[in-house]
Amino acid sequence: SQRTLVLLKPDAVRRGLVGEIVGRIERKAGWQITALELRRLDRETLETHYAEHVGRPFYEPLMEFMQSGPVVALVVEGERVIEGVRQLAGPTDPIAAAPGSIRGDFGTIVRENLIHASDSEESAIRELKIFFPGLS
Ligand code: GTP
Ligand code: MG
Repeated sequence: SQRTLVLLKPDAVRRGLVGEIVGRIERKAGWQITALELRRLDRETLETHYAEHVGRPFYEPLMEFMQSGPVVALVVEGERVIEGVRQLAGPTDPIAAAPGSIRGDFGTIVRENLIHASDSEESAIRELKIFFPGLS
């Protein structure tokens, strides 16, 4: 089975969507939430996390946004959970996301797209180390 890092972004927390989104993840058969924490992210953590996007036009606004309020960081474990949470989230641009997905149901703005989920096994390992370094 796999492990993935999920972040409920500041817009999800501000809008009171944490329960709704966590509920969707929690109800999936065979998945388990093994860590869950409300926290504020500092610039250094975000620079490491979003290193692949340095220099993109949306990078600075994204850094600002991700520091605009607390996020909820989760570790989710289970069968094909990396692909599965990405599927639950929907595409990056909420307008392109189908109803039924988290971004499709609740999002409109690309930057404020509610949720981050690791996009591969390699990313999951890298990102879990950043957010939950104590994990074995
Ligand atoms: P994450 O799970 O947050 O990594 O989203 P993603 O994998 O669907 O998208 P990606 O890693 O490509 O981009 C990271 C984040 O930057 C996105 O979730 C958006 O919040 C933001 N972002 C990506 N592309 C754009 C863009 O073209 N415009 C703006 N404004 N923001 C973007
Ligand atoms: Mg990404």
